Amino acid sequence: MADRVRIYEVGPRDGLQNESTAIPLETKGAFIERLVDAGLREIEATSFVSPRAIPQLADADALLPTLPQAAGLRYPVLVPNERGMTRAEAAGAEAVAVFTAATDAFTQHNIGMTIDESLAAFEPVLRRATDLGWWRRAYVSTAFGCPYTGAVDPHQAVNVATRLLELGVDEVCFGDTIGVGVPGQVTALTDAATAAGIELRQVAYHFHDTRGTALANVVAGLEAGVRTFDSSTGGTGGCPYAPGAAGNLATEDLVYLLDASGFEHGVDLEKVLDAARFITVALGKPLTTKVGQAGGWDAATGRPIGR
Ligand code: COA
Ligand code: ZN
Repeated sequence: MADRVRIYEVGPRDGLQNESTAIPLETKGAFIERLVDAGLREIEATSFVSPRAIPQLADADALLPTLPQAAGLRYPVLVPNERGMTRAEAAGAEAVAVFTAATDAFTQHNIGMTIDESLAAFEPVLRRATDLGWWRRAYVSTAFGCPYTGAVDPHQAVNVATRLLELGVDEVCFGDTIGVGVPGQVTALTDAATAAGIELRQVAYHFHDTRGTALANVVAGLEAGVRTFDSSTGGTGGCPYAPGAAGNLATEDLVYLLDASGFEHGVDLEKVLDAARFITVALGKPLTTKVGQAGGWDAATGRPIGR
């Protein structure tokens, strides 16, 4: 059996939250339909945060009930507090993601809380989600560097992850929010997590390609035994509270790497490229990702595919 990788799609949430163009609800739904058709099975659909903080996702309550349903399909939604949890529940969510960071300075800017305060806010949210039988993820942002305080010790990120796992999350996702990480850091962080007793099946990585290191970091994660990676179709997005957080790792770039490296993941590259073109047209932007421009490559014929 080939080695299997989970691709966790963040385009509809992380991808759209930082775009200045307002995307109509129908377009978001059509984008997500294309992602589902491409074989993506974990799609972070939206956020139940303050509409003042993230106006681009203020339609979460209306969007979620319209999404296509199928067995094995999961639409995690971002929730910062109990108010968000109530909204998510009313909209029919079944999977939740909470989000804090490795540094107090970043959580303060992002959600107006220290790390301790954020964990206290998540506790009732996660308890409720557990009672409801929901899948639960937690983000540790700025795990490789902080836009306000600089270098981050891997143990700092791992300590926060351990506390989140103690609150009952199924998975912790370490984010390189501003795209400064390099492969040696991924290895060090993965080693630190393992040394702290965290199982690698509970670890995901979320890389930004801001400085061109995202795929190299994925390879370091794969070599260390991690099998879950976040990506955004079309390479859109970033966090408005993280100056310089351009460009999530593009799903098309990740899929190409995994295909050519012999990993199984269930996602169709040509259909991802269709979805990438769809969303960049909707945003009025060119598709600038590597595989978005070059296409894939058919080893049988030597020709590009999906261009
Ligand atoms: N959904 C909708 N509205 C919410 C809400 C939620 N989950 N949580 C709070 N609000 C509203 C409050 O009702 C209040 O509204 P008002 O000003 O009209 O009275 C306003 O938001 C502020 O609420 P408050 O409790 O004072 O919190 P805050 O201003 O300290 O903001 C957060 C805290 C967490 C709600 C806010 O910072 C947030 O939503 N951040 C999300 C950031 C994000 O998504 N970043 C991207 C992820 S990387
Ligand atoms: Zn991101």
